[in-house]
Formats: sequence, C-alpha cells, structure tokens
Amino acid sequence: MGQPVNVGVVGCGFIFGQYLRSIERLPELRLVAVADLDPGRAREAVREHPDVEVLGVAELMADPRVDVVLNLTVPAAHAEITLQAIAAGKDVYSEKPLAATTADAARVLRAAADAGVRVGCAPDTVLGTGTQTARQAIDDGLIGRPVAATATMMTPGHERWHPNPDFYYAPGGGPLMDMGPYYITSLVTLLGPVATVIGAASRTRAGRTIATGPRRGEEIPVAVDTHVTGVLVHASGALSTLVMGFEGAATGAPSIEVHGERGSLSVPDPNHFDGPVLLARMGEEDWETLPATAGHVEAGRGVGLADLATTPAGQESRAGGTLAYHVLDVMESLLSSAHSGTAVTVASTCERPRPVTFRPALR
Ligand SMILES: NC(=O)c1ccc[n+]([C@@H]2O[C@H](COP(=O)([O-])OP(=O)(O)OC[C@H]3O[C@@H](n4cnc5c(N)ncnc54)[C@H](O)[C@@H]3O)[C@@H](O)[C@H]2O)c1
Repeated sequence: MGQPVNVGVVGCGFIFGQYLRSIERLPELRLVAVADLDPGRAREAVREHPDVEVLGVAELMADPRVDVVLNLTVPAAHAEITLQAIAAGKDVYSEKPLAATTADAARVLRAAADAGVRVGCAPDTVLGTGTQTARQAIDDGLIGRPVAATATMMTPGHERWHPNPDFYYAPGGGPLMDMGPYYITSLVTLLGPVATVIGAASRTRAGRTIATGPRRGEEIPVAVDTHVTGVLVHASGALSTLVMGFEGAATGAPSIEVHGERGSLSVPDPNHFDGPVLLARMGEEDWETLPATAGHVEAGRGVGLADLATTPAGQESRAGGTLAYHVLDVMESLLSSAHSGTAVTVASTCERPRPVTFRPALR
C-alpha cells in the first residue's frame, strides 16, 4: 500500500472521537489537521495528539497537506463546508445527510463533478458484517426473490443524551433525516434503489427539553416532523415499510426484516457495523444464525472514508455521493408525500453499491 491519505476534519463535536479512534487504526488514513467554529473545542479534541494542527476552517481548506476533508459539522452546515472543500480542490467525506435538502445536495454533486473531486457520505455502518452478510445471503438466493421488508427505529429523542441536540429538531434533522440514512442505505444495499414512496408524518410538541450537560433543562424549538412512516416501492417491485420515530419509549420490533419467496432474514441494527443475521427458511419454524461471510470485521466510523481514499479515480466509492443523494431524495420525497397526501415518484436512482468481501477493517 502507498502513503496514507492526509485527512483534515471540520467539526469536532460529539461524533469526532469515534472517527479519531478509527483513523488511528486505519492504515489508509492519517489525521493532520482539525478545525471548528469553536477553536477551543478543536484544541480540546486533539489535546493528546500534538502532531495534529488546529486551524481555522479557511486555513484548513487551503492547507496543501490536507488531501481529503472529513465534514463532521451539523446537517445545516454540511453543504456549505463540503462546497468549500470542493472549491479548494479536495475530496470530501461528509457525515449524513449529504445536505439538508436535495437542492443543496445537487449543487454539491455538480460542483464535485466540475472540479473533478470525489464526494463520499455516511453511513458506512452498512459496510460492516451485519448488512453485508445479509446482502450476500440475498445475492446467494437464500430467501429467493425478495418481496417485502420492514425497518423500525423508535426512541424518545436524542435530547435525552446529546448535550447540544438543537440540530436534531432543525431542518435537516428529525428521526427520518437523522436515522433514516442508516435504514434506507441498508434497504438500498439489500433491495436496490427506490422508485416511489408513500408517506405520513406527525409532530406532537413545539419544544423539547435538554436532559443532559451544561444546558440541561433548556427548551429547544421543534421545526421538524417527529414521527414518520411510509412505504418505499423499490424499482425491483419489493415493498419496504419504514417507521422512524422520536416519539416512543422503546420498541421490541426488529431493526430490519426482509421477506422473500423462500425465507425471511432478520438484519441487525444498521446504526452498528455488526450483529447477528438470522434466517428463517420457508416451512421451518426456527431461525438460524448465519456466520458472518461479508463486510469489514470490527469496523468503526471512518471505513467509508478509507474506502473513498482507496477507490480508483473515476469509480464511485461504496459510501458514495450518488447513493447518499438518492437516500436523501427518498427521505425528502417521503416528507413531501406525507404533506401532500399523494404518492411521490423519486426522481433519482443509483446502483446498488459494490459488496464488501469479508476482511479485517482496522489494524
Ligand atoms: N452524535 C452522534 O451520535 C452521531 C452519530 C452518527 C452521526 N452523527 C452525525 O455527525 C454530525 C455531527 O454530529 P455531532 O453529534 O458530533 O454534533 P455536535 O453538535 O456535537 O458537533 C458538531 C461540531 O461542528 C461544529 N460546527 C458546526 N458548524 C460549523 C461550521 N460551519 N464550521 C466549522 N465547525 C462547525 C460545531 O461547533 C460542533 O463542534 C451530524 O451530521 C450528525 O448527524 C452524529
């Protein structure tokens, strides 16, 4: 393998630490610089890494040592920071969603194509052994032709554990935009792109109360739907039923199930890299646990960035911009369907991302 790719991170908040731990263990990547609107937060984030420079955002963009920008800002800032990196001629990998709206995401993809740089986007959890083993089971025909899937995420809301949860209730947030990318990216990986959606959504409260950290007790406004359900009609004809809520105490429903003509699969939580994949064959009563046969083993957030760093020029990386755009388009179409009361055709499409062979991810 050649030299590692030099990474500059913009946004050193809650999720930064998970990326830092992965980058340290991914031989393809080396962290060289960080920046944040709050320079104190950036300094604190790399306190134990004196070789990593703390820069202003513009300085980081202009720094010739930075090959790829890792955008870990809040969703409302994703497009702005990604466009700055593209304008500086750098590849970019962004946290999800790719942008708060498809209009902004389209600007990002156009600018990247014009500049000849690559864009990748979370989630990369679906490159782990959970979703990848399930995908291989489908591709190997273990459940026959897939007919239907269910995907369920239900929590009371992230204000219970996140010290600055404002962005979860601002445009670009909500249970669908925040958690939908994991579930919909997994469904597209398993069943292919979505052609049409039918949605319904509700919002119960005008405000939420922060339950942790220095701002505990502070009320924040809610500008998004906090329970979203819908049906995704895949181009293949398979139907996925989606339930994404910040309104439930808990759920016992499986994260994702896929039902085919010859069997059913239980797919682990797509917010994690691994977990058991279960198969029930038609006519048999018990579920069997499939051995992990595909995906990055013991992976962490950052494998999608390493995938981008090692994808040959001219090829889309697995956690790529076209896939992320389609997932955002599906989510925006669901919300639009919920508000109009009619089915919405999803304008974009994408290839199913290339599978990941069974391999250790980290050193
Ligand atoms: N918190 C999680 O568990 C989690 C998990 C997976 C993905 N994510 C995603 O990661 C992203 C960041 O989430 P977080 O929880 O770390 O948020 P956070 O609010 O804790 O951190 C975001 C950081 O970005 C900085 N920032 C915002 N706008 C900026 C700008 N224009 N320029 C420079 N810095 C800017 C903020 O100052 C802050 O330090 C979000 O897109 C979120 O969806 C979060």
